[in-house]
Amino acid sequence: MDIDRRALIAFLGGPAAVASMSPEAKADALEHYMAFQLNQSKAAEAKQKFPTAAEVEAQIETRGNRRGVGNLFLSSTGHVSKLPPMPEKPTLADFFNLRFKATSNHVLQSANLAVKNHMSEEIVLACLLHDTVQELIKVDHGWWGAQLYEPYVSEKVAFAIRYHQALRFYEDKAAGYEYPDLYRNMFGEDYKPEPYIDATYKMVRAHKWYMEPRLVTVNDLYAFEPGVNPTLEQFTDIIGRNFKQPKEGLGFDGSPVAHMWRSIAMPDHPL
Ligand SMILES: [Fe+2]
Ligand SMILES: [Fe+2]
Repeated sequence: MDIDRRALIAFLGGPAAVASMSPEAKADALEHYMAFQLNQSKAAEAKQKFPTAAEVEAQIETRGNRRGVGNLFLSSTGHVSKLPPMPEKPTLADFFNLRFKATSNHVLQSANLAVKNHMSEEIVLACLLHDTVQELIKVDHGWWGAQLYEPYVSEKVAFAIRYHQALRFYEDKAAGYEYPDLYRNMFGEDYKPEPYIDATYKMVRAHKWYMEPRLVTVNDLYAFEPGVNPTLEQFTDIIGRNFKQPKEGLGFDGSPVAHMWRSIAMPDHPL
């Protein structure tokens, strides 16, 4: 595939955004860009072709890793890079800046869209946090993510994070959510969510807080949006009002999820 350097840099948000990216993030971004280009040219064809669920399943043994593994534990360049040390008492912002390298742009774009769409602060925060646990683990990321944040956010924010994972498989056109092509690509065009996801959807659909996770799916982005690179500073006040930062630092406050934060901070520990 021919790569137009200028178009690529614009796609990534301009020269300053590119300069601030780690080599790993650049490799990931290049991969995103190539997938995006490929999708563009594919979409131009009369009929877009998606894999079947059986074809997706057949890929399992072609990989050296499980698809559910967290980004921090994976390499797209053949080797992982050394991570910068974390401060003694790490804050949410430290995790964004030093560990959430693969997910931060996506969640910042979602939170930015939520602000543009005049969402409540709780929805904006849920959007900002909704996929960040994928640095640790991707499989069942709604549940893992809600658990990671539960001690520090309101019940509603945790509810929104937990259940966005199930709701994304079910359309709600009235709320502005259509099933994205991204999932036809990732799961196969004939993919049927498992019974536990279906049961969860039915429970949430009838719940008084249904719109909380639904609005996360509405403000989620299903393609890398070229040239949009919001910064964490835009959300400092919302975080300050809605995220209870522990004074000992995330990972050292003795909470039931402290080990999850430590695992993100120090993923090179062998045991
Ligand atoms: Fe998600
Ligand atoms: Fe997302």
